[in-house]
Amino acid sequence: MSGAAENTDILSVADVVKDRWKVARKIGGGGFGEVYEVLDQLSQATVALKVESAQHPKQVLKMEVAVLKKLQGKDHVCRFVGCGQNERFTYVVMELQGRNLADLRRTMTGGTFSVSTTLRLGKQILEAIESIHSVGFLHRDIKPSNFAMGRLASTCRCCYMLDFGLARQFANSNQEVRPPRSVAGFRGTVRYASINAHKNKEMGRHDDLWSLFYMLVEVHGWSASMEENQRQSKKTGAPKCRAMGRQ
Ligand SMILES: Nc1ncnc2c1ncn2[C@@H]1O[C@H](COP(=O)(O)OP(=O)(O)OP(=O)(O)O)[C@@H](O)[C@H]1O
Ligand SMILES: [Mg+2]
Repeated sequence: MSGAAENTDILSVADVVKDRWKVARKIGGGGFGEVYEVLDQLSQATVALKVESAQHPKQVLKMEVAVLKKLQGKDHVCRFVGCGQNERFTYVVMELQGRNLADLRRTMTGGTFSVSTTLRLGKQILEAIESIHSVGFLHRDIKPSNFAMGRLASTCRCCYMLDFGLARQFANSNQEVRPPRSVAGFRGTVRYASINAHKNKEMGRHDDLWSLFYMLVEVHGWSASMEENQRQSKKTGAPKCRAMGRQ
């Protein structure tokens, strides 16, 4: 980490949280928190620790912990290791995964995934969305940086859902859908948000699916290949399905 970054980070390399988790490096920092790779000095495992400053005006980590705990045992979900808080920050410790899909996409030739990779990811992400819906919550921030591949030989073909900070309960314990609010504040990421979300309407399960659709369009580069296909078909009369045929 650079000196400048270190000054604003909540934790520094070699800091130890709760006499147990020793910071190795920072791996992410978004709108709500910072994520570090840490060594669990009890189990000697390398795990991820996400922190949220006590000064942050919107406290979302407690919601994240509640949803992560509810999802334990499901596929596509990180194993929960621990959580806590002190006067400076709230934290959650979980299984460490590999790189997120936004970073992985940028490393690909042409900046996009093939059709087969996109479809296999789409299936896994759909399963992950089904899991969170099955425990009565919407994710509300489906996007490539909120999914990561496993980092071990046994998990590297599995895609994991991250970041439940914007999750919202849509059903009560009797599986009844909560009545919608007439106006709900915008939640999520503009680029992947459904029309409903842009209109500040109460979100539902379908809005997570719209975001999945937008993210798949992006990671495969479908918009670019559609335009190219339209140009080609105007010129040659080639069939439209050729647009999906990127290798
Ligand atoms: N368990 C994990 N294992 C590996 N990397 C992780 C893990 N959790 C988070 N990350 C990394 O940290 C990044 C930020 O994490 P997360 O999305 O949970 O934080 P955030 O502050 O809520 O982000 P944002 O506001 O940008 O959505 C992720 O994109 C991912 O690269
Ligand atoms: Mg995130």
